[in-house]
Parts: sequence; structure tokens; C-alpha cells
Amino acid sequence: MTDADAAANPDFYFYEPRNGHGLPHNPFNAIIGPRPIGWISTRGVDGRLNLAPYSFFNAFAYTPPIIAFGSTGSKDTLRNARETGEFVWNLATMALAKQMNQTSASVAREVSEFELAGLSPTPSVLVSAPRVAESPVSFECRVTQVVQLQDKEGNAMPNWVVFGEVVAAHIARRLLVHGVYDTAAAHPVLRAGGADAYAQITPEIMFRMSRPA
Ligand SMILES: Cc1cc2nc3c(=O)[nH]c(=O)nc-3n(C[C@H](O)[C@H](O)[C@H](O)COP(=O)(O)O)c2cc1C
Repeated sequence: MTDADAAANPDFYFYEPRNGHGLPHNPFNAIIGPRPIGWISTRGVDGRLNLAPYSFFNAFAYTPPIIAFGSTGSKDTLRNARETGEFVWNLATMALAKQMNQTSASVAREVSEFELAGLSPTPSVLVSAPRVAESPVSFECRVTQVVQLQDKEGNAMPNWVVFGEVVAAHIARRLLVHGVYDTAAAHPVLRAGGADAYAQITPEIMFRMSRPA
């Protein structure tokens, strides 16, 4: 099959992103989704607190545990993480979905999204950025790398990925069943496609499959 044949296959919608997708909504985020949410709290060098959700987020290594979030443009979270070398990841749950969304509001740097969303900052143990007290799981992180993305021509993009090593973890004991973390019991909220689409993990959508030996 040639490239031209592939592009002409009526069973598949084909597009090259650099020429636009030609659809009512960009399918990219809906396809790579639902995505876990990096609900990131930071403290600026001026002491101000910040909290915002980032769905360009995931885990990348076990030992030591490394997580990362992607900032589209230079935002307060990126600046704080860069300047202090610290951030905290908090689990966004169904019970906190509304508050999580409120913390995505574009507000002046002076405004703390904790206050805006009626959430309580609580001190971390190893980093100066606070945790979200209402969230059942938080990871205290130290920044390991801040990578500016580039396109295939090597042009710098206005996108940065902040990697952090998890140096401390806080897990609500109710989520540990005989010592095993129960993902679904927390009802994590995930970002789906479209401007307002989300999904939540519930016990009935889970299934088991062992890896081949
Ligand atoms: C669920 C959700 C996911 C988001 N994911 C991202 C993301 O991955 N990258 C990004 O730059 N902005 C993302 N945003 C938008 C930011 O949260 C928003 O720009 C926020 O104001 C940034 O706050 P800050 O300037 O305090 O860091 C997301 C918003 C929502 C509601």
C-alpha cells in the first residue's frame, strides 16, 4: 500500500496536523484520553500559593518515581516550579472535580486558587509547596528537569515539560485495602476530549489482565 493509498482509504479519516484537522473539534485530546490530571500546587518565591490542573501529565519512572506535567505557555505553576525547584501533585477526585475546575481559572498571580476554590493548603513535609488538604493522595516533588519542547525542525515551542522526583507520598489510609492501594476507591477524575468532557474511575470499570510470563 502506498502513502497515497493510505490517505485515500475511505474507512479512515486521514489528516496531517500541520495542515489542520478539518473537523469541528480537534480530535487529538479526545484520542489521547481520558488523561490523568496533574493537580499541581506550588509556592512562589514571594510566598504566594498556586494551584492548577494539568492534564498533559503522567508518570515516567518507578525508581525513583518521576512524574511530569506539560505547560502550554509560561504559566505561574511553571515559573514557581522552576524558581523553587519544588511542586506537589494532588489527586483530583470526583468529590473535588468542581474545585479542581475552579483552580483552572485565569487569575492574577496574586490570587491563590486555594482561596478561590475554597480549598485548604496544608504543609508538606519535605518541600515548601503545600498539599491540598482535601485531596486523599499527594506527592511532594523536587524538580529534576524542565524541558522546552521543539518541533521536528528543531524550532523551540512555547511548551515546557516539568519533571519531578517524588520525594514524599501521602495516601489516605482508607484507600489502602490490606496495604494495597485501591485506585477506583478514590474515584479519580480524568480529562477527556472536548472543552468540558471528563471521566471518572469507578470500581465497575476496572478489569484484570496478567502480563505474559
Ligand atoms: C482539566 C484541565 C486540564 C488542564 N491541562 C492543562 C495542561 O496540561 N497544560 C496547560 O498548560 N494548561 C492546562 N489547563 C489549563 C490551566 O489549568 C490554566 O491555564 C491555569 O490557569 C494555569 O494556572 P497557573 O498559571 O496558576 O499555573 C488545564 C485546565 C483544566 C481544567
